[in-house]
Amino acid sequence: LPEAEVLIVSNREPYIHNRDGDTVSVQVPASGLVSALEPVIRACGGTWIAHGSGSADRETVDRHDRIDVPPDRPAYSLRRIWISDEEQEGFYYGFANEGLWPLCHIAFVRPTFRENDWRLYQAINERFADAVVQEAKTDDPIVLVQDYHFALAPRMIRNKLPKATIITFWHIPWPNAETFSICPWKEQIIDGMLGSTILGFHTQFHCNNFFETVDRFIESRIDREHATVTLGGHETMVRAYPISIEWPPAALEGQPPVEVCRAEVRAALGLAPDTRIAVGIERFDYTKGILDRMRAVDDLLTRQPDWKGRLVFVQVAAPTRSKLSSYSSLQDDAVALADEINARHGSADYTPIRLLIRHHGAAEVFKLFRAADCCVVSSLHDGMNLVAKEFAAARDDERGVLVLSSFTGASRELAAALIVNPYHLHEMATALDTALRMPDREQQERMRAMRQQIREWNVYRWAARMLIDAAASRRRQRIFD
Ligand code: G6P
Repeated sequence: LPEAEVLIVSNREPYIHNRDGDTVSVQVPASGLVSALEPVIRACGGTWIAHGSGSADRETVDRHDRIDVPPDRPAYSLRRIWISDEEQEGFYYGFANEGLWPLCHIAFVRPTFRENDWRLYQAINERFADAVVQEAKTDDPIVLVQDYHFALAPRMIRNKLPKATIITFWHIPWPNAETFSICPWKEQIIDGMLGSTILGFHTQFHCNNFFETVDRFIESRIDREHATVTLGGHETMVRAYPISIEWPPAALEGQPPVEVCRAEVRAALGLAPDTRIAVGIERFDYTKGILDRMRAVDDLLTRQPDWKGRLVFVQVAAPTRSKLSSYSSLQDDAVALADEINARHGSADYTPIRLLIRHHGAAEVFKLFRAADCCVVSSLHDGMNLVAKEFAAARDDERGVLVLSSFTGASRELAAALIVNPYHLHEMATALDTALRMPDREQQERMRAMRQQIREWNVYRWAARMLIDAAASRRRQRIFD
């Protein structure tokens, strides 16, 4: 555990309070960032500063906009920041999700950069940096800044709290320098990030892309051997810290045995007990390759019709960022494609694609994972992808097959998955077939290897590696002072 106080900065909050008539409910959002960070701060305590986005968020905080969470067993303090609808348009929907998100994923959605979005992005970064100063009880806290919503905050915090140890983690990919140069404010973004003491990415590949980008656009000293960038006398360490999940996963607690999950899920979906199930579970995001995997199921049913009536593909998709047309049109396209495939291969009592468009809680997700024969993660580009790790974590019976895109950070760690190119339809369909026919022994060997990797490289280790590097930097700093 770190000896200093810990503050986390992220846009998405770990607990969202919503009002429905007379009742207030609490939701844990679908976010890889939240599922990774929450167990860490629960273990070390501190303050999490995030956007208060729920309809009952204001009425549940104290007069300092704070609330102790988790609601049932408080372990740390959540400080909510208020963002108006207009600010949200520019900061979250605009600059973060229409600019940086498609830019960094090199997704085939054109990044859009508007002056007004940039202005609001700067303003909201400043608001969070101010909140860090307000919340800090010491002048040298450890501040964990999370993700592409806050590229400018590290520099702003550094200016206000020069002795702080700022660990910034970029949860999404970092593209090559040429691609990043699309961003009209690339120099300011990089300068903002270099306010950090430590800057983390999921993979060495993303670190290398970042070094290349700094080299092209900023006057600084890059030391590749020690993985540092020095700008204005301040040194930033740039390292790969592959993110992970907690082990053992809390969502596994209280889960019935796998056979019971299998039976219950099949009954709930009105399927015969021997129906084979493939699942896909994520936010409805165009980077996830949801349409591509549905097309792969279509291809499999066309080329191998013996699967008809015996295989169902369950896609759980939580609506996200739906105000943006790139997201809402994806939902429309997915519904249309599911209907088309179901009309082609289905019958009165057989619907091959089940598209469940709603948020599922962690317990429900784990139950579905445990009921499945195979899980498909076909991201077109993804920083890490924690769904892949959660699927393996859910399978304490050491059965089930993971079909995993080579364009995820996770594919570098989970070599025992069936690794596929999601752009290659036939390859994905063949992998699905292989997964569904895989002998028990092989399933067990692969699943065991993946579980071992995740158990060993769990999220506590991810956080510990950064905190150990931070402690070393603090020691150096003290000697220097
Ligand atoms: C990705 C991002 C997170 C984000 C999550 C959910 O994992 O890296 O920062 O919280 O998606 O997206 P949302 O926009 O709903 O927070």
